[in-house]
Amino acid sequence: MKILEQLFSILGDGRFHSGERLSQQLQVSRSSVWNGIEKLKAMGLEIYAVKGQGYKLAEPVEPLSKERILQSMTPQAKLHLPHMDVHWSLDSTNRYLMELAKYGAQSGHACLAEIQTAGRGRRGRAWISPFGGNIYLSQLWRFPAGPAMLGGLSLATAVAVARALNQAGVQGFALKWPNDIVSAGKKLAGILLEISGEAMGPATVVCGIGINVLLKTELARDIDQPWTDLYHLMGAVPSRNRLVGLLLSELINMYIEFEAKGLEPFLAEWQRLDAYYGKPVELAGNDNLIRGIARGVDSHGALKMEVGGALRTFYSGELSLRPV
Ligand code: BTN
Repeated sequence: MKILEQLFSILGDGRFHSGERLSQQLQVSRSSVWNGIEKLKAMGLEIYAVKGQGYKLAEPVEPLSKERILQSMTPQAKLHLPHMDVHWSLDSTNRYLMELAKYGAQSGHACLAEIQTAGRGRRGRAWISPFGGNIYLSQLWRFPAGPAMLGGLSLATAVAVARALNQAGVQGFALKWPNDIVSAGKKLAGILLEISGEAMGPATVVCGIGINVLLKTELARDIDQPWTDLYHLMGAVPSRNRLVGLLLSELINMYIEFEAKGLEPFLAEWQRLDAYYGKPVELAGNDNLIRGIARGVDSHGALKMEVGGALRTFYSGELSLRPV
């Protein structure tokens, strides 16, 4: 482990650690410790330095740990997790797994990073992925059927994420079609499914989930939409390892059920969490804007909208509330 990773993992408990003790633990000089602390600060971690006491994180942030994640997973889900790679830094956990998939990575292979330098969002956007306690998780899943059978998968994934958040004690969030997790209109988490494969199957899906856990305003200045994080919603930083364990368990259950039954078992829950049902909305396509009233989703996961008195369905686009 490199110095920064070691320092982060020691400071993660939120207690004071003296420079002297840190230099002994890491077997490096005091100035290397100081350098490491400065680098972590530059990466966005808020660290207090108090004379006579040492260094302390402003908010305890649990460093990602494979062992702790596994402890929070159901035994059944663990059977479907052949590998889990926990990285300090990656360009994009989705890109990484898409690449591994080409060389035969197994279904269920999961990957996490503390920071992403080129995180990907939906519709060609970037996913701003600073260091300091968010969740950047991807999982590969191979479906024997072709990509055409995976129409509702993004909605089912949102339901799996919602279930995991509920189990972690998070409340006060809703879903925005097709698969954003929002709270009071602000984005809490995003899902990006990247699918490859032949029309007749099998299909390979990389499911990427980004959850804002503790996002510093200065580091989030490039985000081009209103956002929130779990810290603001819960008043504290939840255990990231437990949340990731719950997420992986719910995702794995969902893939298995979706493969057997499609979107149907997830539809009622999705509709119950629908943030925009009955509200005036607009749907932005590549070069058009359609206004109407949101009317939920159909059995394939397409958006239903009442437009000029007629009910229409849409398969893509960016939904937003219409200012009235
Ligand atoms: C969105 O735009 O709403 C989707 C965001 C998805 C972000 C996650 S973070 C983990 C995974 N790796 C990526 O590069 N993107 C996804």
